[in-house]
Amino acid sequence: MEKFVINGGKTLSGKVKISGAKNSALKLIAASILADSKTTLRNVPQIEDVSIMVEVLKNLGARVNVDRENKVIEINPESISSYEAPYELVRKMRASILVAGPLLSKFGKVKIAIPGGCNIGSRQIDLHLKGFKDLGAEYSVEHGYVNCYINSSRAGTRLCGTIINLDFPSRGASENIMMAATLAEGKTIINNAAREPEIVDLACFLNSMGANIHGAGTRRITINGVKNLKGTDYEIMPDSIEAGTFIIAAALCGDKVEIEDARWKNLEVFYFKLKEIGVDISVIDENNVRIESSPGTYKPTNINTLPYPGFPTDLQPIIAVLLSVVPGTSVVTENVFENRFMYVDELNRMGAIIKIDGHRAVIRGVEKLSGAPVRSFDLRAGAAMVLAGLAAEGETEVSDIYHIKRGYENFEEKLSLLGADIRRVE
Ligand code: EPZ
Repeated sequence: MEKFVINGGKTLSGKVKISGAKNSALKLIAASILADSKTTLRNVPQIEDVSIMVEVLKNLGARVNVDRENKVIEINPESISSYEAPYELVRKMRASILVAGPLLSKFGKVKIAIPGGCNIGSRQIDLHLKGFKDLGAEYSVEHGYVNCYINSSRAGTRLCGTIINLDFPSRGASENIMMAATLAEGKTIINNAAREPEIVDLACFLNSMGANIHGAGTRRITINGVKNLKGTDYEIMPDSIEAGTFIIAAALCGDKVEIEDARWKNLEVFYFKLKEIGVDISVIDENNVRIESSPGTYKPTNINTLPYPGFPTDLQPIIAVLLSVVPGTSVVTENVFENRFMYVDELNRMGAIIKIDGHRAVIRGVEKLSGAPVRSFDLRAGAAMVLAGLAAEGETEVSDIYHIKRGYENFEEKLSLLGADIRRVE
């Protein structure tokens, strides 16, 4: 029942350090199942979703030590005795589905609740299951669960390497299949694979455990199966989406804001779009950037979300806030998820002028937003509401902030250190 109360119009300045990437950490925790010994993960973001993934692993029987202060997690999979990810956990976090590939490949079976849809879309898993089937597994769906297994009488005890063509470069499916193929017999090729930097982080992590993966980050990933993997010690990459969120906050109301660990090369299309709008963004070095806002000079632009290296769908609600106060008309087209405009009505309540036309949002820029009570409908929509509150005149109350806590570490503390007037209240 917590909410953020924000008094807008404050200038942001100073330095902010980006935390470890949520959409890498969750996969690396799942992948640690594949090893025969303990793994140590560093730079782990202290967020709700990580706590849920740790719960999923503990529920399987793994021994997990979390050192929040030092952002370190130790995972020992040797005591795993269950191969089931229950509905209570999967419905809390869809990414629990990422334990399926590791469990299937290592133990030859997995029972996992079907995640179902969420606020941003239907979120199918058909490509994950098709990939497992191509690798020689069989599966059945009953009572809301998928039972997936290697039919040892037909396929022996290991999955079999093969060529898998993905109909869509799904991140989850590419990650699950890549993890499953690491312990398969022979070579697997994933064509039309997802190319996000987090896919590369996962492949590097698996290779540091003894896997043999090439081509991550390209459309064609090759995995030569190995017999076993050992535990490793690995530092998680910084979170590009968190970096993008703080860059937009600075573009909206920053004086001089430095973003540490922004790794701008992971988000090139986003950077070029900001340049097109006229945001003064300077590269300090390959890790760090500086932003100086000059709202009066910004120009409208059009955004098309696409799989990487296209414009990231996770920054779509966030850049829409910036465009809502840029004079002229901008069009934002969402091509990855069916339903990622739920924040629009909330933003219009703050005085924005946005019309939805199918999977397009047509934004007519206004001079200023005004503070209002608004809701968070999902993680990125929630962050967008906070940014709108920072830029708005007067007070904004953002409710349902549990969505935001799922993926942003110490969000309000980091913003307060930059000078924002934001507090969390019951
Ligand atoms: C990952 O979700 C991220 N989540 C999402 O971030 C991100 O928005 C998304 O990739 C796209 O970049 C995590 O990494 C935990 P997909 P994922 O499989 O893996 C369809 C955030 O805010 N599809 O690439 O679920 C699907 O319905 C979150 O941090 C199928 O049809 O994304 C969707 O429309 C939100 N069948 C599209 O593909 C499948 O089997 C993209 O899904 C799989 C996916």
